[in-house]
Amino acid sequence: MSNVLILGANGGIARTAIDLFLEETDAQLTLYLRNSHRLHNMESTRVRVVEGDVMDSENLKKAMTGQDVVYANLAGDLEKMAKNIVLAMNATGVKRIIFISSMGIYDEVSGEKYGSILNPFRKSAQVIESSDLNYTIIRPAWFTNVNEIDYETTVKGEPFKGSSVSRKSVADLIVKLATNPEWGARNSLGVNKPE
Ligand SMILES: NC(=O)c1ccc[n+]([C@@H]2O[C@H](COP(=O)([O-])OP(=O)(O)OC[C@H]3O[C@@H](n4cnc5c(N)ncnc54)[C@H](OP(=O)(O)O)[C@@H]3O)[C@@H](O)[C@H]2O)c1
Repeated sequence: MSNVLILGANGGIARTAIDLFLEETDAQLTLYLRNSHRLHNMESTRVRVVEGDVMDSENLKKAMTGQDVVYANLAGDLEKMAKNIVLAMNATGVKRIIFISSMGIYDEVSGEKYGSILNPFRKSAQVIESSDLNYTIIRPAWFTNVNEIDYETTVKGEPFKGSSVSRKSVADLIVKLATNPEWGARNSLGVNKPE
């Protein structure tokens, strides 16, 4: 049984992943989010809710203590957040992080140049990749709400495949990575629906 800390737990992918963690694993979940009133139907005895900002280092370290895996489901100033997360993980001795990013950060999508809009994703990925942590960065295609689990992955250095992926597929990949620490270790995975 593992302890999983989910940062940005009210995010769309996070909420889908929480449902799958509860259905398919026996993991204990700590849900870290800025406004805990936003989470509903979290009655499971395997769920602990912690209100906090990822930029609040002390609160973050407290929530991180004793965790096996961190899943970061964030948006915004991702570079600053990634730095704070790495510092907190180093301070608390937690090694495994799954960090959601975006397709296109390595110019791996044929025919697409996403420009500066992806800078927060690029810079945060560099922070994570230059840490000593056991990280997996996830680079999803455009999200859909289709109720299906149907995806393939590519690794860093390979061209990105496809253009969309269901939120449920991304959540499934997160649960698999969180429960198999050697999967995707120190790698960056593109994820898409096969075309
Ligand atoms: N849409 C797409 O097709 C697509 C494709 C590829 C990648 N992505 C990226 O994948 C990521 C996950 O997507 P998503 O739909 O789950 O994102 P989302 O719904 O926007 O969730 C992001 C979460 O980050 C939280 N957050 C932001 N700053 C925070 C802070 N300082 N402390 C704590 N929490 C903070 C937000 O909390 P609050 O609720 O408090 O605001 C929000 O719940 C995003 O970065 C997104 O840009 C999206």
